[in-house]
Amino acid sequence: MRVFLTGATGFIGSAIIPELLSAGHQVTGLARSDAAATTLAAAGVQVHRGALDDVASLQRGAAAADGVIHTAFIHDFMDMAAAGRTDRAAIAAFGAALVGSGRPLVVTSGTAHLPGGRSSTEDDAPDANGPARHRISSEEATLDLAGRGVRACLIRLPPSVHGDGDHGFVPALIGIARAKGLSAYVGDGMNRWPAVHRLDAARLFRLALEQGVAGARYHGIADPGVPVRDIAEVIGRRLGLPVASRSAQDAAGHFGWLATFIALDRPASSALTRQRLGWKPVHAGLLADLDRPAYFTA
Ligand SMILES: NC(=O)c1ccc[n+]([C@@H]2O[C@H](COP(=O)([O-])OP(=O)(O)OC[C@H]3O[C@@H](n4cnc5c(N)ncnc54)[C@H](OP(=O)(O)O)[C@@H]3O)[C@@H](O)[C@H]2O)c1
Repeated sequence: MRVFLTGATGFIGSAIIPELLSAGHQVTGLARSDAAATTLAAAGVQVHRGALDDVASLQRGAAAADGVIHTAFIHDFMDMAAAGRTDRAAIAAFGAALVGSGRPLVVTSGTAHLPGGRSSTEDDAPDANGPARHRISSEEATLDLAGRGVRACLIRLPPSVHGDGDHGFVPALIGIARAKGLSAYVGDGMNRWPAVHRLDAARLFRLALEQGVAGARYHGIADPGVPVRDIAEVIGRRLGLPVASRSAQDAAGHFGWLATFIALDRPASSALTRQRLGWKPVHAGLLADLDRPAYFTA
């Protein structure tokens, strides 16, 4: 398949490239800068110049492809509503090119907006009052296309997609621990984050492209729920720092922008995804992956 991949220079997209190429697909990556174009060309990827806010460029990229994988996202934690609007407009642009074609569109979502306190499944609808609400309209836009002749599906990723090159929540926690001289969690720290290795996630994107069913929601979850206290303990031990609890009231002062996520208890299951796509995560779990020098050399 000729696959149009957005976010091809990103942490997850750059792992999807070799996964697709080694399965015999051709990849065209969205590049918004000369540096991105150079990186993609070196990875054996055809370059498509454009950007998320240039919907015509997205439409052209999708029109020229047999399928689309969308992982690009504007990670502006100060204005996630705007990032969500851009995401929804991008999905509409793909839809304009793909409606009625039966071609696949695989869109990245998350699990943080699913109901909390119990293990969420693929069949769960978003919690309109939960965090990461910006994902909800993107999910709706994707599922709407599934009813209009696009083999559109979602991959919900957990708060920690980990592995070499990680620059997500876990490295942010390491940075905060270094800055504060303390590796902290909130309350008893037994709230759980699901997680997946980026290479396992990349394989799931390929499987969804190849076999995904229109309207499906897939979960890229390997660890169903890692207690945040366990994450803090590995960080504290590796950095030689004390590990301690912070109250919910003190969380904003300690964790800054990460405060919204640090106390989340959003375990999630991928049983249906494994069954439906034959996906089986094989790489290290979060705690084993984190407990390596690579996470602490910065
Ligand atoms: N990493 C995680 O732990 C995690 C967890 C849950 C969900 N997710 C989701 O998974 C997806 C991929 O995440 P990631 O970790 O791979 O992100 P990332 O490493 O931050 O990469 C973001 C990608 O989006 C591109 N991008 C950003 N703004 C753009 C714009 N205006 N126009 C075109 N491209 C733009 C970037 O291109 P440049 O190279 O040009 O900047 C880059 O390729 C996102 O939806 C993210 O929210 C990630």
